[in-house]
Amino acid sequence: MESRTQVGIVGAGPAGLVLSHLLQREGIDCVVLEDRSREYVEKRVRAGVLEQGTVDLLTELGLADRLHREGLVHQGIELRFDGEGHRIPFEELAEGRAITIYGQQEVVKDLIAARLDAGGPLLFEVDDVSLDGIDTDEPTIRFKHEGVEKELHCDAIAGCDGFHGVCRPSVPDGVLSFNELEYPFAWLGILAEVAPSTDELIYAPHERGFALHSLRSPELSRLYVQCDPEDSLEDWPDERIWEELHVRLARDDGWTLKEGPLVEKGIAPLRSFVAQPMQYGRLYLAGDAVHIVPATGAKGLNLAVADVQVLGEALTKYLKGGDGSLLDAYSDACLRRVWRVQHFSWWMTWMLHRFPDDDGFQRGLRRAQLEYVCSSRAAAATLAENYVGLGRDW
Ligand code: FAD
Ligand code: PHB
Repeated sequence: MESRTQVGIVGAGPAGLVLSHLLQREGIDCVVLEDRSREYVEKRVRAGVLEQGTVDLLTELGLADRLHREGLVHQGIELRFDGEGHRIPFEELAEGRAITIYGQQEVVKDLIAARLDAGGPLLFEVDDVSLDGIDTDEPTIRFKHEGVEKELHCDAIAGCDGFHGVCRPSVPDGVLSFNELEYPFAWLGILAEVAPSTDELIYAPHERGFALHSLRSPELSRLYVQCDPEDSLEDWPDERIWEELHVRLARDDGWTLKEGPLVEKGIAPLRSFVAQPMQYGRLYLAGDAVHIVPATGAKGLNLAVADVQVLGEALTKYLKGGDGSLLDAYSDACLRRVWRVQHFSWWMTWMLHRFPDDDGFQRGLRRAQLEYVCSSRAAAATLAENYVGLGRDW
């Protein structure tokens, strides 16, 4: 069965869904295709930190009512090591900008509900997605839905299908260059039904490995421990996780970590990755489909949203006014921010983790950087302004 739309969007993660709302606001037709079920994408536990710019965009789109009711605004983070906490105060260092704690799956739920309420096409559980004619002015997406083979003809395709999607591999060999760094560790993340033991996020470098105390709500804590990338969940019974968290997050002043039943547990690798350019023909790649950052900087979701903000504007100019100049410049316009965020995420990862092949020199450098960030206003301000998110001119 054949049909037509202006923009075919592959993937209903934050990138694809935000783009669909940006286009819908401009009266541009789009169809969103997602290979998983609605239930699956709404339950997938991932990011939790929204930059000020992400919150501002969702607010502007009228999609942030629940976010403003339930999200927790944070004005700082703590770096904790050697039994002591060092606060990085955003209110002083980042010109009043803040982060909001609100689970990615909550953002996704809100965006899906609003899209379906507005009658916008969003198809779940599509199979066998493939792209055709991406180097022509009528690229096509072929897929199967409810057992029926479909062909969707488009003016442009947005590849928002994450790192393991089909869009990036559809670009012919030799067009994209790949830049990648794999880290010799992973994060074991848990969601625990217990009130957070902290009001603000705690980033804790430790000789046994990094730990992070984050949260989702007044009743739900989110915590991570650095582990070996080869570890499996069987290697980490609940008691071992809590034991490591107690040791790595310890503070000398009697602070204690509260434990609770685990409702989620998973291991995620840490990786830095950029494919460039972010476009080929009439295919435009956005979010994790084209770059990955290690989670230490809390940037992946925010970078995905920043990409589609640029893409939405460029597609609008092209499809409403026939002016393709912004679209042609899409990749260049994004890559400057992408590389800035790559550097920040790499730097936080480098500074806060224990690397298995560390020698005394590397340990000394890391230590010096950490002490500098905790004692120099200029160094702390660098962390703060990157963490809350750079403005749109980046
Ligand atoms: P995705 O969310 O991956 O969405 C892609 C969608 O495409 C998915 O729904 C997928 O099912 C679908 N898809 C895939 N293949 C196909 C196909 N062939 N056809 C149709 N659909 C397809 N980022 C932050 O900013 N802050 C954080 O605190 C943070 N913490 C994280 C913690 C963890 C444990 C992990 C794993 C990630 C974290 N991230 C964080 C990263 C963040 O979750 C991602 O960067 C973000 O999901 C990227 O959004 P996206 O829309 O580009 O991709
Ligand atoms: C999270 O809450 O999931 C989270 C917070 C900060 C990070 C990464 C993940 O750097």
